[in-house]
Amino acid sequence: MSGSTENLELRVRTVRWEADGVLSCELVRPDGSALPPFTAGAHVDLSLPNGLVRGYSLCGDQGDWYRYVVAVNRDAHSRGGSAWIHDSLRPGQLLEVSAPRNNFPLVEDAADSVLIAGGIGVTPLLGMARRLAALGREWTLHLAVRTRGQAAFLEELRALAGDRPDRVRLHVDEEDGGKVLDLAGVLAGLGDATHVYCCGPLPMLEAFEKQAAGVPAERRHVEYFAAAQAPATEGGFEVELARTGRTVRVPAGRTILETLLEAGIACYYSCTEGVCGSCETPVLGGEPDHRDEVLTDQEKEAGGTMMICCSGSRSARLVLDL
Ligand code: FES
Repeated sequence: MSGSTENLELRVRTVRWEADGVLSCELVRPDGSALPPFTAGAHVDLSLPNGLVRGYSLCGDQGDWYRYVVAVNRDAHSRGGSAWIHDSLRPGQLLEVSAPRNNFPLVEDAADSVLIAGGIGVTPLLGMARRLAALGREWTLHLAVRTRGQAAFLEELRALAGDRPDRVRLHVDEEDGGKVLDLAGVLAGLGDATHVYCCGPLPMLEAFEKQAAGVPAERRHVEYFAAAQAPATEGGFEVELARTGRTVRVPAGRTILETLLEAGIACYYSCTEGVCGSCETPVLGGEPDHRDEVLTDQEKEAGGTMMICCSGSRSARLVLDL
């Protein structure tokens, strides 16, 4: 986990078609100055004029300090984020953008890395492939899409592969009798030191977690775009806010975040689904019931921090550093 809560006001410099249903957007400082640096796998939260906040992976070059690039897939079930970007985002607009945060960091000194992308899940992995290529490491990227037209950034990836075109492997379900990427086949015969990364739709991530269960946790890396678990809404516990001494009771049917917002307590959050890390809050007492996809198993075990948008409490009282 890394990042800050400082927001930036950035100008939309370009909006570009990348593939069927995918637009990319380049964001720059209005005065042309440098942006906070980021590392491969990082994302930013865009605060949209319709009031929604949405997180998108940075897919541009981490060596370019003057622009952030995000790519957005038009989600058929959009709750207003991707639809607004596709229908209303125009070059020249100003957007409030969070500083970069990285929940999906690249292990840069790994001897070999296998990157597995499903659809728009290619965005953080494009940044990783670029970084690994710059470092001269071994890498392979598998991109799975339903139709060939949905394969975003393929030309860029092939350029990164250079004289090793086998580094980029495209799987098109439609051209393979509707079959999805054979994850077991991809994972078979991984080297002892190989790190493997997966980002894509929920069914792919669930299949990956199952197929890669034998890969040691420190070499297995996953980024979720949507919640994999139901939020904790059992309620029936108290939350003490250590900075003010105030205590609120979380009722059944509400998350901690919802309860705090309803009580008029300002909180920083974005996805509300346990996938972005924006609402991470230090825990000073009590035992959280973790439901997020951001913290590692070790971090959850340690219990020193939690995502208040989706996680609850196993103890009758939680003390938060709020
Ligand atoms: S708001 Fe995204 S993890 Fe809680």
